Amino acid sequence: MIRLDKYISDAIPCTRKEATAYIKSRRVTVDGKIINAADTKIDEKSAVVAFDGKPFSYSKFIYIMLNKPEGLISATEDERDKTVMSLLPESYMTKGLFPAGRLDRDTTGLLILTNDGETAHRLLSPKYNKKKIYRVTAEKPFKEADIEALKKGVMLDDGKTKPSVLEITEDPHVAYMTLTEGRFHEVKRICLALDNLCVALERVRFAELDLDKSLERGEWRLLTEDEIKLLLSVSAEKSN
Ligand code: URA
Repeated sequence: MIRLDKYISDAIPCTRKEATAYIKSRRVTVDGKIINAADTKIDEKSAVVAFDGKPFSYSKFIYIMLNKPEGLISATEDERDKTVMSLLPESYMTKGLFPAGRLDRDTTGLLILTNDGETAHRLLSPKYNKKKIYRVTAEKPFKEADIEALKKGVMLDDGKTKPSVLEITEDPHVAYMTLTEGRFHEVKRICLALDNLCVALERVRFAELDLDKSLERGEWRLLTEDEIKLLLSVSAEKSN
């Protein structure tokens, strides 16, 4: 059982103050009845709560898909530079959100933000080996030999990479690289080891989730219930 204002502020999400205002202005129903006391206790597992007539389910945590633009740091704060948090509304700032993983400042694409520390930790732990797919644009065309090199593992200064997949597109300067490790600057260092240079990098898939193509750079949305289920089940798997 939890308080109605907490249910709303966790699930929508919004601040407790905003949740209380929604309740007081009679916009919230529980099991079809308008409830106007914020401290009403409800059963988060069975109550049907609706806001402006639209039912929504309880979620203890927030999961966000962001299409990261260039120029922002993947962190909650930075002394000098703007972080990805600056793209979220003010009401999200008190929710304990953080980026699940890092993309370089000049890398774009799929970044998951959440306040579910356990799931984020699992997705990022090297033990779990979750697949990440990057669209890599390189200075020189990729070659058939690069595909073989990635299959075997590429020697970097911190050791050989795990076998990975390179798919060269119709434009030989562009390829999709599937990695399971999360090493620092991994894609860029692999390109250097292949005697090439990564000139643009976008993550298009992370933990079985594809970057939503309808999100412009800098745009974000909450994960759907199905996507959350997928993320949680993927994070619970041991390794692939
Ligand atoms: N590999 C890189 O080199 N940079 C990133 O941001 C992600 C993977």
